[in-house]
Amino acid sequence: MSQSVHGTWANRWLFILAATGSAVGLGNIWKFPYITGENGGGAFVLMYLLCIALVGIPVMIAEVMLGRMGRQSPINTMVGLVKRFHAPVFWAGIGWMGALAGFLILSFYSVIAGWALAYIPKLAMGDFQQATGEYAAATFGNLLASPQTLTLWHSLFMLATIFVVARGVNRGLEAAIKWLMPLLFVLLFVLLAYAVQTDSFSAGVDFLFSFDFSKLSRESLVIALGHSFFTLSLGLGAIMAYGAYMPQSASISKTIVVVAVLDTLVALASGMVIFPIVFSNGLEPGAGPGLLFQTLPIAFGNMAAGSFFGVLFFVLVVFAALTSSISLAEPIVAWLVESKGWSRLRAGACVGLSAWLLGLGTVLSFNHWADYTLFGKTFFDCLDFLTTNIMLPLGGLLIAVFVAWVLSKQTVADELRMGPPALYNAWRFILMFISPLAVLAVLLNGLPFLSTLIGQIKSLL
Ligand code: PFF
Repeated sequence: MSQSVHGTWANRWLFILAATGSAVGLGNIWKFPYITGENGGGAFVLMYLLCIALVGIPVMIAEVMLGRMGRQSPINTMVGLVKRFHAPVFWAGIGWMGALAGFLILSFYSVIAGWALAYIPKLAMGDFQQATGEYAAATFGNLLASPQTLTLWHSLFMLATIFVVARGVNRGLEAAIKWLMPLLFVLLFVLLAYAVQTDSFSAGVDFLFSFDFSKLSRESLVIALGHSFFTLSLGLGAIMAYGAYMPQSASISKTIVVVAVLDTLVALASGMVIFPIVFSNGLEPGAGPGLLFQTLPIAFGNMAAGSFFGVLFFVLVVFAALTSSISLAEPIVAWLVESKGWSRLRAGACVGLSAWLLGLGTVLSFNHWADYTLFGKTFFDCLDFLTTNIMLPLGGLLIAVFVAWVLSKQTVADELRMGPPALYNAWRFILMFISPLAVLAVLLNGLPFLSTLIGQIKSLL
């Protein structure tokens, strides 16, 4: 099959924009700065860059290639490839597990993106003018404490996601991405130009790029590797689904390198915007997940034209999250259209509504259900842990092994047409040995939690 029933990106650049749209999201703007802050800065950034280069990019090439070979939703792509290459049927599980992981992530991603939406009117109305740390913390706390408000913003964000997904590859995804991605780059550039003028720009840059290896632990290495999966949208079929709409003539490897570089640049640029503001206001880089929502508004509230820059920044976060959330929904929506014959509107609405319902669990886990924990983790923590630390790495591991060990060397070479054989061999070697071992390390790190879980279940029986 040379084309997907869902359509094809009009050209290679639209695939690049779409894949970059999926990759760039809350992971870059919210998560990357705060985990960098928590893990001591430069040395962590270096590890993260190594993980992107040595594991992220090779696995991403493999995942997109599978999508383009199958030209269907990830579930049907994997079923088709398993039949075509007479592989054991359990490999088709890559598609099913991915669609499930995408659905689970969508449910909480929408709630967090809703926080960013909620901050836009707050900043626009000058809520944070001359704000103190206590005021910003209280504002964030009040937002989390109100299930109604969280649900309102979560609902709006989910509706926007369904709207774009329902319109399909060309009229929905492509049209949205064509506008949102360039706008996002422009907004980031404006903010960066602002950050360069602050007196703490060099302190921020120093924090990001001076390598203090004494601050690096085994744990931070594992976090860096796990985050490289999350940030590149790997392991759950999102990028595989987008690969299915990629023109046959485009070079996968060159294209993916562009996407990974753009994703990394956005993460680094976000860091270069956030840390100078943090330092010039004497704030704490290791503030944790609250960094974006509690710390930055203080800075915006105390700088000239802060409302303007604040609104701009949170608009950017919402755009980035929207182009990621549509890719989280795409694998399962595409499957419903293909296999059940549903319209995209029906499939999008059904997936969106179910994810919205599940998202209410995340909403409640910040207030009424905050004390209902399973082994110390709230409902939201459990979902986040299960997907980011177990399902994505497992999906990535299986994709690497399937492409490197199950498909024949020639089949893969024909599909990729990478150019110099040495380059292809190096990529294949990494995929055969380095990526699976590195991912196993991440999975094993999740094992203490799993063994506690199993132990607790046993003691209950
Ligand atoms: N890459 C997105 C981010 O950095 O926010 C999150 C994400 C999107 C993860 C799509 C996985 C995915 F399939």
